Amino acid sequence: MSIRKITEYPEDVLARVGEPVTKFDDELRALCDDMFETMYDDQGVGLAAPQIGLSLRLFVMDCDGIKLIAANPEIIETSGEDAGQEGCLSLGKVPAVVTRALKAKLRAQDENGEWFEREAEGYAARAFQHETDHCDGKLFIDHLPKMRREMVIKKFRKEKKLGG
Ligand code: NI
Repeated sequence: MSIRKITEYPEDVLARVGEPVTKFDDELRALCDDMFETMYDDQGVGLAAPQIGLSLRLFVMDCDGIKLIAANPEIIETSGEDAGQEGCLSLGKVPAVVTRALKAKLRAQDENGEWFEREAEGYAARAFQHETDHCDGKLFIDHLPKMRREMVIKKFRKEKKLGG
């Protein structure tokens, strides 16, 4: 296993729709191991392949008791609304309040290619939506009004300059 370098805003790969995962082999499983290791190293609760520079529809998460690998993820059902704080490893975890569905049902394939569905509420449902967005080339700041989006970017750039 190895820790991969996190791709940060505004690298192009973060804005690209990922390619579908078609091979469920040892290489994919090793990639998922690396993604978990990279996510834990950065104290994240989710990590999508574009965040390590790979334009693939794949994410891993470990959030609120839900640990899973999701290849070719789709949000197939949502309900309710929830305004909550979130951040992204690709934006230095600068937080912002984002309105998401309160409940979400995820449909995806596991590391062996088996399809599954999983429902979640609250923080884990937020992670489903945030990570699936990454696979579609979307960032959480794309859900923010322009002014707030620019504030997050500005803060991220400032912290990056200070923190190296
Ligand atoms: Ni993110």
